[in-house]
Formats: sequence, structure tokens, C-alpha cells
Amino acid sequence: MRLNNKIAIITGTAGGMGQAAAILFAQEGAKVAAVDLTDSLAQPTVDQIRKEGGQAIAIGADITRTEDVKRIAQRTVDELGLPNVLFNNAGVDLEQKKPMIEIDEEAFDRTIEVNLKGTWLLMKHVVPHMIKAGGGSIINTASVGAFIPVGSAGYIASKAGVVALTRVAANELGRYNIRVNSLCPGMTMTPMAAQQVEEMIANGIPMESILAMRRRLSVLGRMGEPIEMAKMGLFLASDDSSYATGASFNNDGGLTIVNAVETRS
Ligand SMILES: NC(=O)c1ccc[n+]([C@@H]2O[C@H](COP(=O)([O-])OP(=O)(O)OC[C@H]3O[C@@H](n4cnc5c(N)ncnc54)[C@H](O)[C@@H]3O)[C@@H](O)[C@H]2O)c1
Repeated sequence: MRLNNKIAIITGTAGGMGQAAAILFAQEGAKVAAVDLTDSLAQPTVDQIRKEGGQAIAIGADITRTEDVKRIAQRTVDELGLPNVLFNNAGVDLEQKKPMIEIDEEAFDRTIEVNLKGTWLLMKHVVPHMIKAGGGSIINTASVGAFIPVGSAGYIASKAGVVALTRVAANELGRYNIRVNSLCPGMTMTPMAAQQVEEMIANGIPMESILAMRRRLSVLGRMGEPIEMAKMGLFLASDDSSYATGASFNNDGGLTIVNAVETRS
């Protein structure tokens, strides 16, 4: 098992990529602190892990609140041990596909707060424990949107910020044997993606064109699956990636090599 003796904090585990990662990491031997906005959102994934014989705790917390984030770190230390993996996966896309000048200010702020500030807050409060653990691996989920403008301004800017933050963290934390990398998914079949489809339908775009457009956003002709993102997360969390730090790993079916801007409807 690739994560034996590892203690992993994963955020956004109620569904999508975070849930797939929590289950996979536990199957690979990690003890998992599964975080989502409320206890009832976090609990089902933990139940699934325990049913399979794994070890996990559910933590309901808003990653934008300092007190909540301190509690995530402390409960992990108290109930599982010193963390050596942090997977900052939770994220929101609140103003999907809206042009920049139509974006609501509150939605812009919240997007930056969850995606960028939340990632930093988790690192701020978990890293001291990781240093005590003797090192570790941090995976910050960004998006290929950090490099190409396929999405709303707040979301894309927040994810470019995550990539930049990851580089700073990698530079500062290498001396503590802590590696920090960005995972950059392309279009992936998750609740977030389903929400985007609903919004496009509400804007009058026919389902057929939505599906065709999504297929074009990959040279493989399909969207990614959450487990495919979780597997890259596993590689980055495990010692298999022992020389990788400060890097961005695209996992996008080739989205970044097709002309994504042209293929947007
Ligand atoms: N799905 C895609 O196509 C896609 C593409 C590129 C990047 N991403 C990124 O991948 C990550 C996972 O995406 P997903 O599609 O699985 O999303 P998702 O919406 O299915 O899951 C995100 C989870 O984060 C949780 N969350 C949101 N705000 C939170 C907060 N303040 N505190 C704690 N938890 C919070 C949600 O409750 C949810 O369970 C996100 O960072 C997203 O931006 C997704």
C-alpha cells in the first residue's frame, strides 16, 4: 500500500474528486481526516471508508474560518496523529460562465476566499504539525483554468493564485522536507460539473451542444472521472513523487493543447 503510516487531511470530501481521493487514500493505508462544510456532508464518505475497513474521521468545517481550520488541524493530531499529507481539494465556482463585468462582487469575494485563502489557511495551520511529523506532501487543487481562460474571472484568478501560492510554499517548505504541488484538473464529471451544465441549460444552451462542447474540451473525447484525479493526488501524496515540488500537474485529457477559448460556446 502506497500510503501506509500516512495521515492525510483532505478537504471537500462530500462528493466529486475529494470523495474519490478520501476513499482511495484510505484503501492505500492512510488514516484520513475528511473535511466538508458540515458534519453531515463529511460523514457519509467516512462511513464508506470504515465499511471497507479503513480509518477516518469526519470534520465539518468551513475552510475560510480560522477557528474551523485550527480545529481541523487539532482534531487530526488528537484523533489520528501528526499529519503528513494535506490535500486542499475543496473549491467553489460561483459565477460560472458569466462575463467579468456581470459578476456579482460578493460571489467574486467568496470564490477567492474559499479557493485561495482557504488553501493558504490550511497550510498555515497544518504545516507546523507536518514539520513535527518530519515532512510531508501538500497537494493544492488548482485547475487548468490557471493557464487558459476557460471559466469565470473570479474562479480563474483564484486558481492562478493557487498555483502561485503553491510555488511560494514549495520554496519555503523544502527545508522541512515538505513538498508542495498543484493538481490541475480539466473537465471532470463531478457535482460541480453537473451544476455548470444546469446553469448552461438555464441559459438556453441545448444539452446536445453542451455535451459536444465538453467532448471537444479534451483530445480524448470525454470528460475526466473523479477517480482519475484522485489517482494523480495519490501519486503526489505518496513517495512515488519524492522529487516533485513546486510543480503544476495537468490532468486534463489534453484540454490545454486544444484551442479551448475557440471551442467555448
Ligand atoms: N469538476 C471540474 O471539472 C473541475 C475542473 C478543474 C478544477 N476543479 C477543482 O477541483 C476541486 C474539486 O472539484 P469537484 O468538481 O470535485 O467539486 P465539488 O463541488 O463536487 O466538491 C467540492 C466540495 O468542496 C466543499 N466545499 C466548498 N466550500 C467549502 C468550504 N468553504 N469549506 C469546506 N468545504 C467546502 C463542497 O461542499 C464540496 O463537497 C475544486 O477545487 C475545483 O475547483 C474541478
